[in-house]
Amino acid sequence: MSTHIGAKPGEIAERVLMPGDPLRAKWIAETYLEDATCYSTVRGMLGFTGRWKGVDVSVQGSGMGMPSASIYAHELINEYGVKSLIRVGSCGALREDLQLRDVIAAIGSSTDSNMNRMRFDGLIDYAPVADFGLLRTAVEVAERQGITMHVGPILAADAFYTDRPDLYDTLADYGVLAVEMESAALYTIAARYKARALTVLTVSDHIKTGEKTTSAEREQTFSQMVEIALDTIIA
Ligand code: HPA
Repeated sequence: MSTHIGAKPGEIAERVLMPGDPLRAKWIAETYLEDATCYSTVRGMLGFTGRWKGVDVSVQGSGMGMPSASIYAHELINEYGVKSLIRVGSCGALREDLQLRDVIAAIGSSTDSNMNRMRFDGLIDYAPVADFGLLRTAVEVAERQGITMHVGPILAADAFYTDRPDLYDTLADYGVLAVEMESAALYTIAARYKARALTVLTVSDHIKTGEKTTSAEREQTFSQMVEIALDTIIA
């Protein structure tokens, strides 16, 4: 096992979906994967491996925020040889042209996290971006499945609750679609260790209007997003 994942060598597939919530990982494994088995319960951050359309796929909870997601992405790639990671999560919409339940693929991720400032000694504002191949495939899969998917930049924030909503407005003026809490770290770590990464999100709440999805609505749109992610990761 690695420091935070209790899997034996070979128990994790090269292709991994990463929801923040470990119970979502369980739900994805039970709902979609054939012969799914749980390979890790360490810290309750569940991980499963099964098959989607005959291809081995794992689903690993990442927890909330970049410090937690970084640990799982780092160990999956460096200790278990994972090659492709797709985060499936929720986000808050920053722009009025987005609606609750919309699906978003994050082409790039701005961040207020200090992690990359430390990496680059504060000398470079590194731009974490999605893997182009995964993003292109996700766009094709969404079109084939008849699901409208917005593609654009997002914000990965360290704090869920902010005292500076004005910064969200400024970012929206610069085309940033939504805020979540993990993508910048995922994209950076995948780039550093030569894996491929993508973030696909559904809008669970609207920062401008204050609207929120019900849990039944979240479940339904979560399914659409997971179906895009699964078909993308096996392509
Ligand atoms: N902020 C940060 N992350 C989120 C949000 C939000 O409003 N909604 C869902 N994930």
